[in-house]
This record gives sequence, structure tokens and C-alpha cells, in this order.
Amino acid sequence: MKISVIGTGYVWLIQTVWLAKIGFSIQAIDLFEDKIEKLKSGIPTIYENGLEALLQETMRNIHFTTDIASSAWSDIIFLCVGTPQDEEWKTDLTYIKQAGNDLKKTLIGNEIIVIKSTVPASTNAMMYELLGSKNPVVSNPEFLREWLAIEDFFTPDRVVLGFKDGEKHEVIDTLMEVYWYFSDKWVPILQTNWQTAELIKYAANAFLATKITFINEIARLSDSIWADINDVAKALWMDHRIGNKFLNAWIGYGGSCFPKDVKSLIHQFHEQGLGWDILTKVDETNTSQVDYFMKKVWNHYWTQLNGKTIWVFGVAFKPDTDDLRESKALVIINRLIKAWAMVQVFDYNAKALENFEKYTYGLATGIRNFIPIVISKTFLDMTKNADFLILTLEDKRVLDEDFDMIANNLKDKTIFDGKNILHKDVMKNLWFEYMWVGC
Ligand code: UGA
Repeated sequence: MKISVIGTGYVWLIQTVWLAKIGFSIQAIDLFEDKIEKLKSGIPTIYENGLEALLQETMRNIHFTTDIASSAWSDIIFLCVGTPQDEEWKTDLTYIKQAGNDLKKTLIGNEIIVIKSTVPASTNAMMYELLGSKNPVVSNPEFLREWLAIEDFFTPDRVVLGFKDGEKHEVIDTLMEVYWYFSDKWVPILQTNWQTAELIKYAANAFLATKITFINEIARLSDSIWADINDVAKALWMDHRIGNKFLNAWIGYGGSCFPKDVKSLIHQFHEQGLGWDILTKVDETNTSQVDYFMKKVWNHYWTQLNGKTIWVFGVAFKPDTDDLRESKALVIINRLIKAWAMVQVFDYNAKALENFEKYTYGLATGIRNFIPIVISKTFLDMTKNADFLILTLEDKRVLDEDFDMIANNLKDKTIFDGKNILHKDVMKNLWFEYMWVGC
């Protein structure tokens, strides 16, 4: 079977190496020559746990190219282009349409177009029409998490395939051949129509975002009545109807997916003349959660941070990624700089720190372009000369750090834990002033 994967970025590369690993020969098509050259020499263009080894192992099955015409005569063409959000919160389909227009000039057979990008209802139908209603179009949304993307590809909770109503059996069979890999692995493959598959992706992300926001709201009440949110959450996890995932009260969700997809879904409701109060509130509460948390800092220091050096642990939106998109750490660092504090940062992911360094170039304060930020090389380095710590990353490696030493280094011996990751009793035994989300 000849398979092409067209796109840029995350899903594109992971989809490519996954297909190559399970034995298919892949044409991986991206518009950018420099990216393709890098990939040809076995260097991934995105950071993802385990990707480099997998790319090098599977390269012999992949033909990296910028030539979209090479996708002609493919049995399947996976489309994995970006779908950012425009200024009105709508999903921006520019890249999808552009790919469709390019393909239109290229397709010569019955190539099946599979849309993996996150797209709102009717996009698959739009693509079908754009391609002259000749080539089958299939919706196949992706549920991978950054950092765990490879694991998610090999052991997904489900595969969703959305077909045109009354789609030919040959098309369905061809798709099932690709996902045959899961046939003995108890992975459910759900076949639906286009719109259902499109909606499933948004509904899944919006539900997880709602779960997080729910526990964040409960944490606010916990703070007021001196209940401990960690114990509240633990008791909820024990109820198997509720489940133990995505119920951590922290500083709000970030990343390139939840914020964008929640907003897009609100927009999709509005487009249908329906309001949706829950999601609007989820979005608002998530935005305000970081300021809610920062109130603990302002209250403790009577808003006087001028001259303080604050150690912020974590810059990425979640552990072991280099991705700073919608990272709450950036919001916190900006608030601290505006309050004339000095900030020292560290993240275990060196690429995240590199990206952060680039980001800081835009943060010049106006005083001879002085940026009051120091990027530390190690966790302990960051504690030197600092007054207190704000924790913004749920990276468990923190637990192995030497908190005796940190207690000596930190001038104020105060920790604000935005990810409730440290153990309050351990912190209190070390005489830290320890504050967290939810008490
Ligand atoms: C998310 C979904 O989990 C994937 O299933 C989906 O495929 C992906 O979006 C996508 O649409 O492409 P991802 O953005 O990589 O994946 O990250 P998550 O692990 O879901 O975390 C998102 C944010 O929620 C992070 O900022 C994390 O810190 C936060 N979070 C997570 C909480 O605040 N509380 C929790 O209990 C869990």
C-alpha cells in the first residue's frame, strides 16, 4: 500500500514514524526544504520523548520530500496540517484549504484523503467538494498527548474513523487495513459519519478541560474553608465512576490544544445559534486561575516584590516538552517582571529553556533592554540568591531534589506550589512556608 502523509509539525511526524514502524512505506511531505533535510539526516524537527530513536529506526521506510505531486497514486493521503484559531476564536482552515487546493492539482486516481487535523463540523464535507466529489474523504481525529505521543500512537484508547454516509466498502476496508495493527490489541475502532468524528475530538478535549476547571473551582472553595483539595481529589478518584485522571487542581490548563479547542467549540455552538454557558465559564475560569493562584503571592508579600528574586521552576506547559504555547509559567513570569521582581528560571527540558531564552528577547523592560531574568543550568543553581520559589511544572523529578539544601539557600524559605506536587508535611518539617492550590 502506498501512503503519503502531508503536513507540518507534531502529528505529521509522529503519524509518519508510527506508520513506518508498523511496516508501511511512507512519503512524508512537508513544504519546508530545511525541515526535510534535517529529517533525512535522522534529526527530528520537534521534541518528543523517544522520537529520535524511532525516526532513525524507521527512516528506511520513509521518503521525506517537499514534492506534493509525489502523493499522486497513493492509496491513502493523511492530512496533518495545522488548524490554529483565528481572532474570532474560529478554527482557521487556511492550511487545510491550501492543502486541498494543492492536492486537487495532483490527484489522479482514487486516493483516499484522511484528515487527521482537528477540524470543526463540515470540514470533511468541504474537502470532499473541494476535491471535486471524486476522492473519498475520511475523518480520523488524533488524541495524542505531547510527551506521551508515541505511547499514545501504539496504545490508543480508541481509533475514530468518520466516513461519508454510505461510503464504499473498499474505502472502509483500506482504512481498516492500516489499523489492522490494533486487531489483536483490544483497541476499539469506532466507525461514524464525518460530523460525529469531527465532534468527538472537540468533545473529548472540552470534557477534559471541564474536569480540570471543575477541580480548580473546588480548590478555590477549599482555600476559603481550609479544606485540602488534594484529599478532596483523592476521594473523587476513588469513585470509579469519576476516575482518577485530569482532576488535579493546579494553575489552569495550557498547551496548544485545550485552550484553542474549547474556544473553537464555543464558537461552533454559537454558529448553530446555541449558547453554551459551561464552556464559556470553563474558558474564563481557566484564564483567571493563574491570577487566583498569584493572589497567594501578592497577599503574602503585600504586593511588594520590588527587589525580590523569585525562582520559577518550569517554563513549558507540561513536563518534558519544549512547548511554551499557552504556558501558565509565562503568564506568571510576566506578572512578576511587571512587579519589578528578578526572576530565575529552570526547566529539566533543555530545549524548553532554549525556547524560553528566545521568548525573553521580546520582554525587554525598556531600561536599556534589561531583561530581569536569569536562566539557570541546574535546579539547585536556581535556588542560589533567590528569595522564594514558585513551582509551575508537574515534573516529578522535583521530588528527588535536595530540599535541605534548598531550605538553606532560599532567603524567605517560602514555596508557592502551583502544581501541588510537593508533600506538605515534608515541606513543613523543613520549616518552609508552603502554599499550594486549594488550601
Ligand atoms: C491534549 C489531550 O490530552 C490529548 O488527548 C489531545 O490529543 C491533545 O490535547 C490534542 O488535542 O492534540 P496535551 O495538550 O498534549 O494533550 O496535554 P495534556 O496532557 O492533556 O495537558 C494539557 C494541560 O492540562 C497541561 O497544561 C496540564 O498541565 C493541564 N492539566 C492536566 C491540569 O491542569 N490538570 C490535570 O489534572 C491534568
